[in-house]
Amino acid sequence: MTFQDELINWYRINKRDLPWRHTNDAYTIWLSEVILQQTRVEQGLPYFNKFLENFPTVNDFARATEAKVLKLWQGLGYYSRGRNMHATAQIVMKDYNGVFPKLHDELIKLKGIGEYTAAAISSFSSGEARAVVDGNVFRVLSRYYGIDTPINSPAGKKKFFILANELLYQDDPALYNQAIMEFGAMQCKPKSPNCGICPLNQTCYAFSHKMVNELPVKLKKTAQKHRYINYFICFDGEKVLVRERQAGDVWQHLYDFPSVETLTHENTDGSLFTALVKKTFGNASDFELISSKKHVLTHQIIHVQFFALKNYIFNFSIQKELNWVSLSKLDELPQPKVIHDFVQEYFCSDNME
Ligand code: ADE
Repeated sequence: MTFQDELINWYRINKRDLPWRHTNDAYTIWLSEVILQQTRVEQGLPYFNKFLENFPTVNDFARATEAKVLKLWQGLGYYSRGRNMHATAQIVMKDYNGVFPKLHDELIKLKGIGEYTAAAISSFSSGEARAVVDGNVFRVLSRYYGIDTPINSPAGKKKFFILANELLYQDDPALYNQAIMEFGAMQCKPKSPNCGICPLNQTCYAFSHKMVNELPVKLKKTAQKHRYINYFICFDGEKVLVRERQAGDVWQHLYDFPSVETLTHENTDGSLFTALVKKTFGNASDFELISSKKHVLTHQIIHVQFFALKNYIFNFSIQKELNWVSLSKLDELPQPKVIHDFVQEYFCSDNME
């Protein structure tokens, strides 16, 4: 049997029943693919369902507020993807008469849709012959064919893209694309795959050369930067002071709290820290550490501390974009995950979805 036939056979027997596999609606497939670029299937499913419930059509998506989109996206990270989706929904309404494009060359023009997503949507919605190349496909091909070119190098991307398109099963590109991705996710797993039961083990380069754990090769990414953000929780009766984050840093348009950033993990009892807090807030005699957390992003590790600040005289000219929000409304604002987790813990909110 050919490589393609083996994969498709395996897929017919082992595939998971996933909702986006029962449709050829480009809008629905777009939702699923953008979410699945962010997270694994199990974690992505509730997001997919939530988005489809709130926005059954691209028109509903386009008409939503950005805050609502970001709220639904909350927890997935890379918030620019949520914002790009919103912009794309609006462009589809304006330039495509509300009909989500199905063809690769139209899709690739849209915001947030790259080569992978355009191939996935076009093949699944219209049967166009475009090979998907995601992390699963890189892994399957590099192991099976014994390719050690780094998958995140320009040469590697080109090589795998060409090979994937040569291998594409022309009779049913959608079926083959689903099959190879599912095979990568469930059989040819990143860690400890069970090669003993793999239908391709007789012809797999990595298996016969004992290189399964060495492939694929990935270049090390640049070192992550550490940041230290100290948040101050300020109350006025039933209200708490929040800040809408602006462009030019992480978490654009999400909400957090007034903060001071330090270069290191300051000793928060130290005079330097006290002076900084005093300079920012006008009073620093009365703050107390409530919680510490760490949040890992692609290029940054953000260490956050939360303090309760009392008896403050706020310097609004230094801390911009601040607003008083009642505690009952706090949960409606889109927040970075680390803030959301803290809010849930500290304010014991009971109005979760
Ligand atoms: N990951 C990305 N796209 C997927 C799909 N269509 N099905 C399962 N996992 C995926």
